[in-house]
Amino acid sequence: MLSDTSLPVIKATLPVVGEHIEEIAKRFYKHMFEARPDLLDGLFNRGNQADGRQQQALAGSIAAFAGLLVDNVDEVPDHLLSRVAHKHVSLGLRPDQYQIVHDNLMWAIVDVLGDAVTPDVAAAWDEVYWLMANMLINKERGLYNAVHLSPDTIWRTWRVAEKIQETDDVVRFVVERIDEREVKPSLPGQYVTIKMRMHDGVHQPRQYSLTKADDGQHRQFAVKRVHGLETPDGEMSNLLHNEVQVGDEVVLSAPFGDVVLEYTDRPLVLASAGIGITPMAGMLSHLVKSGSQRQVIMLHADDSQASFPLRGQVGEDLAALPDGTLKTWFLNPTPGGSASGSEFSGFMDVGAVDLPDDAEYYLCGPLPFLKSVRSALVAGGVPAKDIQYEVFGPDLWLADFQ
Ligand code: HEM
Repeated sequence: MLSDTSLPVIKATLPVVGEHIEEIAKRFYKHMFEARPDLLDGLFNRGNQADGRQQQALAGSIAAFAGLLVDNVDEVPDHLLSRVAHKHVSLGLRPDQYQIVHDNLMWAIVDVLGDAVTPDVAAAWDEVYWLMANMLINKERGLYNAVHLSPDTIWRTWRVAEKIQETDDVVRFVVERIDEREVKPSLPGQYVTIKMRMHDGVHQPRQYSLTKADDGQHRQFAVKRVHGLETPDGEMSNLLHNEVQVGDEVVLSAPFGDVVLEYTDRPLVLASAGIGITPMAGMLSHLVKSGSQRQVIMLHADDSQASFPLRGQVGEDLAALPDGTLKTWFLNPTPGGSASGSEFSGFMDVGAVDLPDDAEYYLCGPLPFLKSVRSALVAGGVPAKDIQYEVFGPDLWLADFQ
């Protein structure tokens, strides 16, 4: 894919670009937002900007992509692109915006590496950028077309019909349609982007997993309060918790997200921690709605029974399936809870459970949880292809190519 001219140049410069990727990313974003402050109004998540996660994710993934091109010339790293394309379309990204990122990224590479960026080096990195950008643009066009939407029409206004306090930290919203447009169906495990006006007038987007199968009239999602009202990460969740009330209107994107349940007959194991229950709840709800006969084992880790969000819905859905089981791990166990044989104390230990052969696995939770559960499963002989995972926030796991 990479031209014969560029391949040796990328090979030679990848180490130095990799070494300076954080600095390149930092200057790239600073430069871009100075030139285009409008991109911070409704498109980029300033919570992720503030702590540098998004910077690393975008620039890091380009370096990771270059590494893959160099090592494995003909293979398209589809898994890496898919997550990004879904995230992009859930924000209504447009193809012409790739030029803005290009110009600012190339500027930052020259700014950091200076004279080392000869015309040949610049041309080679330009080629890498557009290879990746065009793959994303094509994928994103396909995603918009598949649901007959465009960057402008993914948004829709809903009315909050119910707001339910699930736990001390988590509220669940049920929103209802207020117009006659068709409600786009969601696949099990997908999320929507919510776009809200913050106190300073700036709009901010955040993604939340859908927690219930479609009924054509409503959507449901659950929001965990991030503590620290003045922190960028806390501003959206606190706004939703404290200020958005039943009857208010909210703007949501159509559903997107690449970690979705496959329709097969194989046994299914869902493993989540904390608010990572949300896409799993959506999957269980879809399974019940479709009359699934699959064996389903739900593994969930939380602080305590009381902090386990959506436990009512999840328990009912598992009971409605012909072969559904719940196993929990609580850091603060329920007194006498372990007597049932389905409650454990401490962190999740998949080794403590009899897991079916040939199962498919879906994981969702904080990165350390995902890494430890995935490692334990792989060590136990589960093929990597059977394990899918959803990360909330930019996925640095992929970008961390070094
Ligand atoms: C998210 C890569 C172009 C805006 C991301 C993520 C990656 C990425 C890796 C994080 C996904 C995740 O794990 O959540 C790329 C690459 C690009 C590109 C490789 C070009 C080849 C663009 C363009 C824009 C853009 C042109 C718009 C001007 C965003 C936004 C997010 C995002 C708003 C959401 C995350 C956040 O705000 O924190 N992109 N991107 N990206 N990207 Fe891109």
